[in-house]
Amino acid sequence: MGWLKNLSSKWSLKKSFVIYLLIFLILGIALAKINSILIKNYEIKSINEYIRSDIIDGREYYIPSEQNLSIFKNYMYRVLFLYKDLAVVIHSILFSLFGFYIYYIHKLREPVDYICNIREDNINDIPNGDNELIFACKKITNEMKSLKEEKIKVWNQYDAFNHMVSSMSHDMKNPLTIVKGDVDILEMIDIEDDNNIKSETIQSIKKNLIRIEKYLDRVNYLQSMDQLRINKKSINILDFIETLKNNAKMLNSNKHIHWIIPKEDIIINIDAYHIEEGFENVLNNALTHANSNIYIDIGVKDKKMLISIQDDGKGFSGEALKYSTQKFYSENPQSGNMGLGLNITKHIMERHGGNLIIKNHNNGALVEMIINL
Ligand SMILES: Nc1ncnc2c1ncn2[C@@H]1O[C@H](COP(=O)(O)OP(=O)(O)OP(=O)(O)O)[C@@H](O)[C@H]1O
Ligand SMILES: [Mg+2]
Repeated sequence: MGWLKNLSSKWSLKKSFVIYLLIFLILGIALAKINSILIKNYEIKSINEYIRSDIIDGREYYIPSEQNLSIFKNYMYRVLFLYKDLAVVIHSILFSLFGFYIYYIHKLREPVDYICNIREDNINDIPNGDNELIFACKKITNEMKSLKEEKIKVWNQYDAFNHMVSSMSHDMKNPLTIVKGDVDILEMIDIEDDNNIKSETIQSIKKNLIRIEKYLDRVNYLQSMDQLRINKKSINILDFIETLKNNAKMLNSNKHIHWIIPKEDIIINIDAYHIEEGFENVLNNALTHANSNIYIDIGVKDKKMLISIQDDGKGFSGEALKYSTQKFYSENPQSGNMGLGLNITKHIMERHGGNLIIKNHNNGALVEMIINL
């Protein structure tokens, strides 16, 4: 029956059902006919052997002669002859059932078993075939896969959020404790006499207040991301690149940055402030992860600006490739990172009708910022 299974692999369930039923019905009826003919021949033979003929009103009648037959044989003959008369009906019923059984084995058993036993850890072994049930299996599988990914995403976000809350309260506590201590010092010292201590303490208070302010700014910023407004203006690309270069210098790093920039100046229409911010987020990551070199390539093609930033570090981890653009996903939260850089950048790119693409090249990470002009 393997041939039938192969032949029907691309048929719909309805079509397969009709064809299976027809094949088995035809087989059954053909077999019934053959059996009937064989039994009929046998019947005639046995009539010749055991039956005595009689003629009534000129017509010939054959009456079975039972005197030579045992009870068992007689009974068997009756059954056989009854079967001969009903063979087509009996075969039609039995072969239809058989056909349905084979249809079930070929078309339904595997996918039904698959659906009944589907679990998160066996969602890859989808049965072969091309019918509605197999499509349903594939759909369920894809839904389960994306649910699993969503679940991991939510867990990661939840973890990262918890971590952020705890690290923020920890990081806020430190400067607050220092400020409190500084205020105590200011209360205790004789302000007229201890001028040096006074200015040092005030400097310390200022520094720590700035730290607190920075944290609060980031939280505020996060909230305002949802209402981010893009304000596009026309600027020369070379001027814009010059600003990026100056910003990169301010990041103060011993890594080498290699620039590939357009030869000709053109006008581009972007929200330079936000693009600079996104660029800085990506560059900061590259500076953190690069061994020693970063390659920045900026170009314009088909009304799109592409900024690609490549480093020679270890590249994105498998998990980071999937989740690094989500809010709060960070693999270095202990260094005070909030896991927002790439998320914010992606948001900015998308609001420009573009995209942020995260990948690895042969030797390190590659991030592409695509901006619709
Ligand atoms: N160039 C890179 N090479 C390898 N991994 C990277 C690179 N850039 C980002 N990642 C990974 O992606 C994660 C998310 O990056 P993202 O910039 O969003 O957050 P972060 O740098 O951890 O924190 P934040 O930018 O908010 O300070 C990082 O924690 C890091 O693990
Ligand atoms: Mg970052």
